[in-house]
Amino acid sequence: MEKQILKLAVNGQDYEVFINPKTLLVEVIRDHLGFTGTKRGCETVSCGACTVTVNGVAVKSCSVLAVQVEGMNVVTSEGLEDNGKLSPIQKAFLDYGSYQCGFCTSGMLMSATAFLDENKSPTKHAIKESIEGNICRCTGYNSIVRAIDAVAQGKYKEE
Ligand code: FES
Ligand code: FES
Repeated sequence: MEKQILKLAVNGQDYEVFINPKTLLVEVIRDHLGFTGTKRGCETVSCGACTVTVNGVAVKSCSVLAVQVEGMNVVTSEGLEDNGKLSPIQKAFLDYGSYQCGFCTSGMLMSATAFLDENKSPTKHAIKESIEGNICRCTGYNSIVRAIDAVAQGKYKEE
């Protein structure tokens, strides 16, 4: 299959990459552009470690071909901070100890970010549902849910 040029924006910057049409989005993000916060875990759409947002929607980047996001805005965990200032959900994860090994954390942050953008005062049940697609082997999830809940309750503001 002939290689082609893909244009997309990642973390607010425009990129053009020359790829095989079968290249996965996670491969473009990590291998072509070097945003290695996004993890490759199961690669079978189960673990959520590869979650990014595409036009604001949480997407498992191992589940889509890169060519499917032509012209779209992708955000990875590296794109959450702004000039060194952490986003509310990043600060909450730090304060609530919502990670241990950290392998799931980027994906969790991106799922939580997309969820909180759409849900201003979610229930704890809705928060739990929002991270059902993200597996964490370390924390038992409670500290992650508490951090997302704290942001939903307005305890963390954008600086
Ligand atoms: S690596 Fe994509 S869901 Fe596990
Ligand atoms: S912190 Fe280790 S998998 Fe979640």
